[in-house]
Amino acid sequence: MAHTNNVARLRGFIGALAELLDQQLEEPALLDRGAQLLGELVKHDDWLSDEFAHPSPERYQQYVLHVDSAQRFSVVSFVWGPGQETPVHDHRVWGLIGMLRGAEDAQGFRRDQSGALHLEGPAQRLLPGQVEAVSPRIGDIHQVRNAFSDRTSVSIHVYGGNIGAVQRAVYLADGSEKPFISGYSNAHLPNIWDLSKENPTP
Ligand SMILES: [Fe+2]
Repeated sequence: MAHTNNVARLRGFIGALAELLDQQLEEPALLDRGAQLLGELVKHDDWLSDEFAHPSPERYQQYVLHVDSAQRFSVVSFVWGPGQETPVHDHRVWGLIGMLRGAEDAQGFRRDQSGALHLEGPAQRLLPGQVEAVSPRIGDIHQVRNAFSDRTSVSIHVYGGNIGAVQRAVYLADGSEKPFISGYSNAHLPNIWDLSKENPTP
């Protein structure tokens, strides 16, 4: 499947998000407005180059698309091969998840006072164009999987930090935490800055 590389869309989203963060809103307003911006981005599937939508047979991929210069936020494409899933994990910062292609199922968890994990409601299916939020305030522990066993799915995530470097945790079945720093799958970023390709000299 060919996807036109309309990278201006990604650049516009990053600029709008930086302006939003400049407003220093409280988290509920930030998530609300950020979800609208991300919803606009993932409504169109014409801007993510194939390089950052490529699945691995080994495990799900996290391609960093952009990190804010002050590491206030990062934008990541999450690429699920057929049937792939995360461990149960947290984020420690706010996050917005927008579905670009395919679908994913997210199961929330909460911990009781003894540290044991419990299911938080039923799993939520995210479809293209839809956005959901996580944060330590509204629920930060979940497990996510590709809803499909026969195709790739791609979601676009925004986090309130440089998520690949955040010290966070994965959770074992007994609720115990294992320290986790996810890193990123790619060595190079998309070039969103070559404006000459969009406005060529006549
Ligand atoms: Fe997550």
